[in-house]
Amino acid sequence: MTTATPTRGLEGVIAGETEICSVEQGALIYRGYEIHDLAEHATFEEVAFLLLVGHKPSAEELRFFKDELVANRALPPQCVDYLRAAAPLLKQGSAVPMDVLRTCVSILGNTDAESQDNSPEANLRKAKRLTAKIPTIIGHMQNLIDGREIVSLNTGGDAKLGHAANLLYLMSGEKPSAEHAHVLDVSLILYAEHDYNASTFTSRVIAATLSDMHGAVTGAIAALKGPLHGGANEAAMEMLKEMRRDLGPENDPKKIDAWMQRAFAEKRKLMGFGHRVYKHGDHRASLLHALGRKIAERKGPEFVRLFELGEQVQRIMAEQKQIYPNVDFPCGMTYYTMGIAVPQYTPIFVASRITGWCAHIMEQHANNRLIRPIAQYTGPRDLKWKG
Ligand SMILES: CC(C)(COP(=O)(O)OP(=O)(O)OC[C@H]1O[C@@H](n2cnc3c(N)ncnc32)[C@H](O)[C@@H]1OP(=O)(O)O)[C@@H](O)C(=O)NCCC(=O)NCCS
Repeated sequence: MTTATPTRGLEGVIAGETEICSVEQGALIYRGYEIHDLAEHATFEEVAFLLLVGHKPSAEELRFFKDELVANRALPPQCVDYLRAAAPLLKQGSAVPMDVLRTCVSILGNTDAESQDNSPEANLRKAKRLTAKIPTIIGHMQNLIDGREIVSLNTGGDAKLGHAANLLYLMSGEKPSAEHAHVLDVSLILYAEHDYNASTFTSRVIAATLSDMHGAVTGAIAALKGPLHGGANEAAMEMLKEMRRDLGPENDPKKIDAWMQRAFAEKRKLMGFGHRVYKHGDHRASLLHALGRKIAERKGPEFVRLFELGEQVQRIMAEQKQIYPNVDFPCGMTYYTMGIAVPQYTPIFVASRITGWCAHIMEQHANNRLIRPIAQYTGPRDLKWKG
């Protein structure tokens, strides 16, 4: 029996070490590089290499890495067959894209000849294959939902397009503008890694039993889906849509304030706000907000009004609750403005965070000890089964 007081939600508990990322109120750092620097100067492929391999790629390393991603984009037939079978389930609503993506990753494990090999070399190769294939899963799934012929079934996209641009192309069949590709690329950089968040911690717990990478990623996807974690980008946009339905298209400050006061009175959690670590604001949110707003300004007044609504919600939250938006709040508005279907926002988060998860799984395997905390028992003790 233990006498220590348990920490609810493990808040503030240092559960292990990592060389991959530091999440601090003052800075977000990936392997030594600060997030504003990466968002401004790096591409997602460079950041993916940095996280997975451990250093900034040379020009040659980057070229080789990008070629490897392109070469591994296409899906095995078992995965495509499952996607086709899942399409009616997605349409009837008993499955959502995160569930289907989770099952696809499981199938990718079944079809990967190295699935049971946890050596560093095999893990790195599997990480690259997963990074390459997840956008293809998302794209094919969206094509099936939309009733469109699957885009690039045999190749997983256009070899000339970078990771972010190709994801947009796979989802719609249309080549994206340079601006849309850039903004998606930045959002992927911002989402790529965040130390011991719930899904990454899940992946490390699974990896620490010496289970395999595909299994650990499958568990991580299930953890990311929840609206308190990655699912918040979809939930934030659904909340703004609900506000629009309730309040009409005009951003009447009185009506917005009344809506917010009602939400506060109902003790409602506003999605896309708050963070376990960043109590005074999330570095990533303002970065993405600025980029998303520029797209909205080009797209027209309807989208600018959406951002203005978001800004009013942010102001009221800051003034009255001192709670600030996390990256999921501007992400919802930005992806919506780009015309991306809401249920794919969290799968797109997976397309990025796969790099952070795999880096952590490899770090865990490289210096492993089973993760097994203890619980404080609060149940009864003296019950008798007989009599
Ligand atoms: C992220 C989150 C789970 C962190 O939770 P946490 O560290 O456990 O923080 P708590 O839930 O203990 O919040 C502390 C206080 O702030 C309030 N709060 C936190 N986030 C809030 C939100 N989004 N809306 C309204 N109130 C919020 C809590 O109700 C609580 O108030 P109380 O002390 O009066 O009960 C939480 O902020 C949340 O649910 N946010 C919405 C979902 C979201 O955006 N998730 C993505 C995170 S990147």
